[in-house]
Amino acid sequence: MRGDYTRSGPDFVIEQDWSAYTAEEHALYRRLFERQSKLVPRYACPEWIEAVGGFDFSTEIPRFEKTSKILRNATGWEIVAVPGLIPDQAFFTHLAQRRFPVTVWLRRPEEFDYIAEPDVFHDFFGHVPLLFDRTYADHLHEYGKGGLKAMRLNAVTFLSRLYWYTIEFGLIKTQAGVRAYGSGLLSSGGELAYCVEDPKPRRLAFNLERIMRTAYQIDRYQERYFVIDSFEQLMRETAPDFTPIYERLRSLPMEMA
Ligand code: PHE
Ligand code: FE
Repeated sequence: MRGDYTRSGPDFVIEQDWSAYTAEEHALYRRLFERQSKLVPRYACPEWIEAVGGFDFSTEIPRFEKTSKILRNATGWEIVAVPGLIPDQAFFTHLAQRRFPVTVWLRRPEEFDYIAEPDVFHDFFGHVPLLFDRTYADHLHEYGKGGLKAMRLNAVTFLSRLYWYTIEFGLIKTQAGVRAYGSGLLSSGGELAYCVEDPKPRRLAFNLERIMRTAYQIDRYQERYFVIDSFEQLMRETAPDFTPIYERLRSLPMEMA
């Protein structure tokens, strides 16, 4: 795992040493932002587009403190700086307390098109704007609580697939056609157009149990996406107690990705 974990405590929160970013890093961030900005009017969901109207993070790597302040007023969420990927327990605990962990480091120039781990651009561009949407924000809070519960039930593998096929790679229906709300899509130079337009991948209606049975690949464009009607639908369909679902899934064969 990349990142400096030496300064972080048990919750993995560190300080975002904003003055340590170099001018080259700010410039690279700006280039990433510019490329993605050209794609979002066509491919991003309206909720994401609406949210970015309210705050400007286009010119330099954002200061987390500043964003947290406006976000707290909007939906009660804040963002915290972390060194990179963090363990499930810490991750779920943050979400369950309406804190979104954002990686501090930025990719290298040679990783402009592709990066296997989340960096500050992915986390910020992909995840943070949607935290301004009330329903999405409430859903992610519930997901965090559900994560702690899934840990007790030994079912994190199933619940992680839900995160993957919604929060990271989810599509949503709009009057103009399907659009991306998954952060892995919103922050991707190639997959954002692919997920909406390419005839190859399957676009299946959201189905909780099917999602939980579907393993995923992290190193290539997805072969299947799940499409929700609205964030309300996502909220509604994930509200029931998952305990019996996890039980049932354990006895079923897994669908391969
Ligand atoms: N309803 C889920 C449970 O009982 C919790 C959850 C809510 C999980 C929303 C994910 C998203 O475990
Ligand atoms: Fe992500």
